Amino acid sequence: MDSLTIIKPDDWHLHVRDGDALKDIIPHTAKRFARAIIMPNLKPPVTTTEQAQAYRQRIVDAVPNDIHFQPLMTLYLTDNMPADEINRAKDSGIVFAVKYYPAGATTNSDAGVTDLKKTYAVLERMQQLEMPLLIHGEVTDPNIDVFDREAVFIDTILKPLLKDFPNLKVVLEHITTEQAVDFVMSAPNNIAATITPHHLLYNRNQMFQGGIKPHYYCLPILKREKHRQALIKAATSGNSKFFLGTDSAPHPQSKKETACGCAGMYSAHAAIEMYAEVFDENNALDKLEGFASLYGPEFYRLPVNTDKINLLKQAQTIPASYQFANETLIPLKAGETIQWKLQ
Ligand code: NCD
Ligand code: ZN
Repeated sequence: MDSLTIIKPDDWHLHVRDGDALKDIIPHTAKRFARAIIMPNLKPPVTTTEQAQAYRQRIVDAVPNDIHFQPLMTLYLTDNMPADEINRAKDSGIVFAVKYYPAGATTNSDAGVTDLKKTYAVLERMQQLEMPLLIHGEVTDPNIDVFDREAVFIDTILKPLLKDFPNLKVVLEHITTEQAVDFVMSAPNNIAATITPHHLLYNRNQMFQGGIKPHYYCLPILKREKHRQALIKAATSGNSKFFLGTDSAPHPQSKKETACGCAGMYSAHAAIEMYAEVFDENNALDKLEGFASLYGPEFYRLPVNTDKINLLKQAQTIPASYQFANETLIPLKAGETIQWKLQ
């Protein structure tokens, strides 16, 4: 197969930052995706519906006029979010989920939750109003090995949480391990997961191939090959619990290529093309549309998009860099050739 037409996909996990950088990166996503779940980890975080409305407007203003793109906003859960914020969020019609970062787990997560018990009134309201909780599933205990933090989170935090809130809609975001795949697979239908292109493309060796490679550092960190294989199997299985979420997370070159570099990879410039490459390599192109365009809307109970996109099996070279406000952004696969192209 050398061309593929699918319903225009959605990105169920995306960081677009704020300010001048928006206009440099939003067009990449808007060309490929009809909608995207926008992560709220700004500085300061998006904790109220009012802030989400203002942020949404700044994003909409950065979308090129000839493209129709809908940002789906989220709120950042904190220890002291009032439960009534969930009603305001639901009533606004522009907030579609709440994001849970364990405090200190990743970029701009210091305002995150220190103890889930403190948020139980909010979670109760979310369960009632069917507002999904999007989970960064890693424990933050420095004594737990960085490669084990997702698996330990599932056993020690997620399982007890779901015992207390059996009907809460949950997306375990950017899963990276076979433990996460197994857990989601055997969980009830209110539990789903997103999978990134980079966790499908690379195992942890990539970070150390010939030297230390900061552009392959993200959280959750890349894992062993057996975990990558489990993710590929899940993504290409046609199981509707697994859907597309890029976790495209841009940082300027100066904050990646440094003694203490930020976590995050930028993939928005060629995300659907890279997923197509993985699905093609695994003889599963027929499963791409479900993963990219159907299962996400089904979980979020939103209509499926009506536009289509065409993908061609045609080599293209990824630019070495993009502008990022007054800085430079190094994209995933910078300067490399990939096999699929958006028409
Ligand atoms: C994200 C970011 O930079 O905002 N980084 C990342 O490595 N994925 C935060 C996150 O989603 O963990
Ligand atoms: Zn993220």
